[in-house]
Amino acid sequence: MRPLIAGNWKMNGNQREAARLAEALRGGAENADLLICPPFVHIHQVAALMLGSRVAVGAQDCHAAHHGAHTGDVSAAMLRDVGATHVILGHSERRTNHGENDAAVLAKTEAALTAGLIPIICVGETEAERLSGLADSVVEKQLGGSIPYGFITAGGIVAYEPVWAIGTGRTPTDRDIAAMHATMRTALVERFGPAARTTRLLYGGSVKPSNAAAIMALPDVDGALVGGASLVAEDFLAIAGAV
Ligand code: G3P
Repeated sequence: MRPLIAGNWKMNGNQREAARLAEALRGGAENADLLICPPFVHIHQVAALMLGSRVAVGAQDCHAAHHGAHTGDVSAAMLRDVGATHVILGHSERRTNHGENDAAVLAKTEAALTAGLIPIICVGETEAERLSGLADSVVEKQLGGSIPYGFITAGGIVAYEPVWAIGTGRTPTDRDIAAMHATMRTALVERFGPAARTTRLLYGGSVKPSNAAAIMALPDVDGALVGGASLVAEDFLAIAGAV
């Protein structure tokens, strides 16, 4: 399947920087689909700049409700309305900083699907969990608790992001990444049937131009979710060029 290289800009950039970065990516990549996920306030501008390009634009979170008294929140329908096509859900920074559990991620994912957004559900173990041999069971539990029916047929995406690899420059070994992606594939196929064989499984956590080719070559790795390196156009394109 055609890989997806997704950039999670997190809470970075002003309007001018967002526009400059988006424009530098407008040409897309030859062998991969590109997705960029700016902060909420830049989505409208960036989506407008990307019209007619092959680069999709997404968000980093959404609320589970369609509308209502939720001060400071943004609904999936609002994101769709300003041009987003995807939304990252259950990122470990949301789970840690905002107390999001699997049930919350499930509700948000259902809202995203209802609004016509493609959800990217993030899962991944902490370092302590990996050292205790719990990585597989943690990820399987997150998958089991956060993925609703309808996710696979709607093109939902899963990103494996070991918490300890995010922004640290450290990554699991190639063997550990491949093993976890195989575990995720098996869990999804067992639950949803053969359709889950085409579900894109992304790896995220310290992906950079120097390690992208090796990671992208692993079985069941269908792309990357890139944080820091997605803020530098040349690096993001180099990662996309490494598939
Ligand atoms: O969502 C992507 C992210 O968490 C990975 O961040 O900076 O390690 O590529 P980074």
